[in-house]
Amino acid sequence: MSWTTFPKVELHLHLEGAAPPDFIRALAKEKSMDIAGIFDAQGNYAYRDFTHFLSVYEAATETLKTPEDYHRLTRAVLEQSAANGVVYAETFLSPDFCGGSDVVAWRDYLAAIVDAADEAERRDGITLRGIVTCIRHFGPEKARASARCAAETAGDWLTGFGIAGAETMGEPGDFAYSFDMAREAGLNLTAHAGEWGGAKSVRDAVSDLGVGRIGHGVRAIEDPEVVEMLAEREVVLEVCPGSNVTLGVYPDWKSHPIQRLREAGVKVTVSTDDPPFFHTTMTREFEMLEKHFGWGEEEFDEINQTALAAAYCDPQTRARVAEQIKRT
Ligand code: ADE
Ligand code: ZN
Repeated sequence: MSWTTFPKVELHLHLEGAAPPDFIRALAKEKSMDIAGIFDAQGNYAYRDFTHFLSVYEAATETLKTPEDYHRLTRAVLEQSAANGVVYAETFLSPDFCGGSDVVAWRDYLAAIVDAADEAERRDGITLRGIVTCIRHFGPEKARASARCAAETAGDWLTGFGIAGAETMGEPGDFAYSFDMAREAGLNLTAHAGEWGGAKSVRDAVSDLGVGRIGHGVRAIEDPEVVEMLAEREVVLEVCPGSNVTLGVYPDWKSHPIQRLREAGVKVTVSTDDPPFFHTTMTREFEMLEKHFGWGEEEFDEINQTALAAAYCDPQTRARVAEQIKRT
């Protein structure tokens, strides 16, 4: 079966990380910036390991200078997502990259992104919501500035707050102040954990930040008590298997714990993270899950339902998307 047109819900997608290399190359050319070093001979993003990935990601992001650039990026990314059957997506946005976490500038970037998302919804029937994400390796002070931007613009479109970046730097508790600010503003919370940190990092993100979802979270599998805690509390994992395999969290698809987590009663969903960096799409994630774990329509319907139930959107949007993922 071809999974291209099967409807999909994606909860974990970094907007800059979804930028096609051609798009970034064209922007760099327009601005006379030399970023040739971030590409390989085939024109794909080139990096050696996770730390290098983060610096290539940030170098590519340097080309995105204005709200208009983010408008074009959002349009390009949603075209790709819609072509892969995605009907609802949530994207991580970082005010650090969008106006340096200045609230006035951030509002302009956000307005441009929402405008492009509205256009895509009208054109392709794909719905997007935003999650402000602070960057762990930029430190707690910058995270507070991002949380302030998030709190100021929280609403029906900007619905969440999270943290990404180098998981080995600092502790989740260092960012509790920012998460408290976001929670008080009515935002829903998620945190990257259990990707580069072990099971304890997942436990700490849940207990110290009070998140309802975890980005990745897969290394919870290393401690049965953490797996049980996730299942009991119905914490939803935004699992990105292709990202984990490409970055070397697991050596191959067969070793990936998504199936074991699901069998242990943990609520799992599937996303791409930074698709062109990992040579993936939502269609490819589905194909690989079919190939390596035998997943089919039943499993994909189940993860769609899990993802939509865990989506950070209002009830009307959830009901509308429920119709889009309903199959007869
Ligand atoms: N930022 C973009 N992709 C990321 C990942 N996989 N882990 C942490 N931070 C990220
Ligand atoms: Zn991520």
